[in-house]
Amino acid sequence: MPILEVHDLSHVYSKGTPFEQKALDHVNLNVERGEFLAIIGHTGSGKSTLIQHLNGLLRPTDGQVLLHGKNIFASDCDIRRVRFRIGLVFQYPEYQLFEETVGKDIAYGPTNMGLDAAEIERRVAQAMEDVGLDVSLRDKSPFELSGGQKRRVALAGVVAMQPEILVLDEPTAGLDPAGRREMFELIRRLHDLHGTTIVLVTHSMEDAARMADRLVVMQNGRVFLTGKPEEVFARADELEQAGLTVPQVTKILLELKKRGIPVDTGCYTIEQAVAQLLAYKQAGGKNGC
Ligand SMILES: Nc1ncnc2c1ncn2[C@@H]1O[C@H](COP(=O)(O)OP(=O)(O)OP(=O)(O)O)[C@@H](O)[C@H]1O
Ligand SMILES: [Mg+2]
Repeated sequence: MPILEVHDLSHVYSKGTPFEQKALDHVNLNVERGEFLAIIGHTGSGKSTLIQHLNGLLRPTDGQVLLHGKNIFASDCDIRRVRFRIGLVFQYPEYQLFEETVGKDIAYGPTNMGLDAAEIERRVAQAMEDVGLDVSLRDKSPFELSGGQKRRVALAGVVAMQPEILVLDEPTAGLDPAGRREMFELIRRLHDLHGTTIVLVTHSMEDAARMADRLVVMQNGRVFLTGKPEEVFARADELEQAGLTVPQVTKILLELKKRGIPVDTGCYTIEQAVAQLLAYKQAGGKNGC
């Protein structure tokens, strides 16, 4: 059974008012245990709206979200406990830091869970280590830290709850290339070390393809395409027609294909493309992938 199932989920903001806005339109989606899933799509395609349903922050206009087969919106389901199991990291989460020290901020979630002091202590230390924050920062004010460090504190606060599923909304937004790389490395480490199921929202096809086992492409509040990165990019033409940017490498391969060179447009890394083109050249310009 998938760890998380989204059934026919629709969401209309401000329903019944002149500002009514349909943001999700019958979305179906499964997340498997231990999977690294990326949700990509244009601005306004419904990514943030979708993930805010995953831990019950938004209630569906229609449809269901099931965690281990159980509807999280059912009247007998304790939504607070769901939020401990499905950790949601908002876009620019550093704006939500509020405690006077880094340690207290990270301890906020575990404290709400009702854990004892020794366990909270252990979790804060582990979470700081997981996100690459030095222990010496523990008694500092979060407001004295750099932007990148603040974001790590915010992430540590969710990680300290040891959620089964970690949902991240554009975690690299506003970071420089080095910061982006570090953030992705640490998310990957959380996935690999603790087996945490990851749902990552990003604008970047390249980042999604590099990081995730499976992609979900959203468009106008619907799931437009889903599959492994190579399956999704093999349909690069459709993605481009839908106005979605495909990785640069895929664009080059698409152009080569148009010119009659039999390449596989499902490739999305430079290494894959180079290997293909070398093989093509060595075969005297006759074979494809
Ligand atoms: N609080 C809100 N009230 C009314 N409409 C909203 C609200 N939040 C989002 N919307 C609308 O719902 C649609 C989906 O928005 P959403 O924020 O989920 O998209 P997104 O894919 O996360 O976009 P982005 O990439 O810009 O973050 C958009 O048309 C948006 O304008
Ligand atoms: Mg968004």
